[in-house]
Amino acid sequence: MNPARSIAGRLAALFAAAALIVFSLFGFVLDRELTVALRRQQVEQLDTKFQDIEYILKRIRSPDQWVRIHAKLDALTPPDRSTRYWILSDDPHIRYGESLAEIAGFSQGSGRVGELRIGDRPEPFLIRSAYFPANDLHPALRFIVGIDSESYVRTQRAFRSVLLACVAFGVPLGALIGYLITHLGLVPLKRLSREARALSPSTLSQRLMVTDLPEELADLSQSFNGALDRVEAAYEQLESFNADVTHELRTPLTNLIGQTQVALSRQRSADDLVEVLQSNLEDLERLRGIVNDMLFLARADQGERPQHLLPASLAAEVEKSAEFLDFLVEEAGVRIRVQGDALAPIERSLFRRAVTNLLHNAIRHADTDSEILVQLTSDASCARIAVSNHGPEIPSEHLTRLFDRFYRVDMARANSGESHGLGLAIVKAVAAMHSGSVFATSEDGVTTIGFSVSAAL
Ligand SMILES: Nc1ncnc2c1ncn2[C@@H]1O[C@H](COP(=O)(O)OP(=O)(O)O)[C@@H](O)[C@H]1O
Ligand SMILES: [Mg+2]
Repeated sequence: MNPARSIAGRLAALFAAAALIVFSLFGFVLDRELTVALRRQQVEQLDTKFQDIEYILKRIRSPDQWVRIHAKLDALTPPDRSTRYWILSDDPHIRYGESLAEIAGFSQGSGRVGELRIGDRPEPFLIRSAYFPANDLHPALRFIVGIDSESYVRTQRAFRSVLLACVAFGVPLGALIGYLITHLGLVPLKRLSREARALSPSTLSQRLMVTDLPEELADLSQSFNGALDRVEAAYEQLESFNADVTHELRTPLTNLIGQTQVALSRQRSADDLVEVLQSNLEDLERLRGIVNDMLFLARADQGERPQHLLPASLAAEVEKSAEFLDFLVEEAGVRIRVQGDALAPIERSLFRRAVTNLLHNAIRHADTDSEILVQLTSDASCARIAVSNHGPEIPSEHLTRLFDRFYRVDMARANSGESHGLGLAIVKAVAAMHSGSVFATSEDGVTTIGFSVSAAL
């Protein structure tokens, strides 16, 4: 599994990134807050210590108090020396504290807080100093209190380590949780793909279970089921088409074999044999017709498009197609009238094939001595050819199926010589090749069947 292409992998990475962002943001804010709070606490502590001593220094009443003050400062200095006191003065009796030379270089206004690094300590001292001008009891002096920042810095470091540990564990944990959540979330999807995998031509009627699926997947599986419906329909159509083909071909073949066997069963005159051959030829031609039509439809199914679309007068094409049928027209005792004209880009041979099929049907079904009307109309998008004849009406339930392969309204006549049920299927294929469609109506004793072709090149 390629993690970059797996949803679980991707979501795990996103969860990890989210954890990183959240931890970093919270960590940053908390760290800021802690720094400020620690500093405030340190300053407060410093202030308290400072004020205690300042109070004493301001109340010096005699010059010999300094020994006591030094003792007090000694007592106040903790053993770890994290708080220190200094008194700077020219008078060595008053001076107090270590590293006075370093401190002396640090001059500061009275009462301010600052930082001072002292040689033996890794972290600076936070210090506060006050200047006491000379008076009759003592010369000018500066008093300084310092608190070592080390313990605060340590607290802060400890906090940062915890924070880093949180990020270090939190990010992979986020990724893991993301992965597990996604895995759980994808369980229905896995079930769905298992079901889909189990589908085969023999289980084509099976559908994916839509109940119990999360909404997002229910939609998907419904569309998938819809696609399966269409595949099943197409598959059934194909299967029945195969059965139809076999059936259509079997009749003429049986005829051919029967006639030939009868002819061979005894001695025949040359005239008799010619008769048999003629009859055989009819059946063979019928077979060729079916095979040619099926070949044409198969090519159309494979998406064959017309080679040369040339603008042509449709009326002229219809007239030419009708001329080829004048023998049939005469025999049926009907007339063909062409009304209107339209100019459209067509492939002539295809167009004539479709028109011939329509005229053929109309002649066959027209009442004797009636007129077949071919109407040509056009608008901006398409040109329409409608062939109408007076004759038996087609019940409406058949109208939409007329264009199906091998479909005949009167199945009893199915095996009559001139009908094999592919004529209108070819009309439909030709219309489709010209980006058009087919239509059929049958009412008040008039049946109109036709098709359209796109008017655009
Ligand atoms: N003009 C028409 N009047 C009545 N029925 C028709 C007409 N044209 C077609 N049909 C019906 O449609 C069926 C399918 O037509 P077609 O595909 O041309 O096949 P075929 O003509 O070989 O039977 C015909 O068998 C017939 O029942
Ligand atoms: Mg026909």
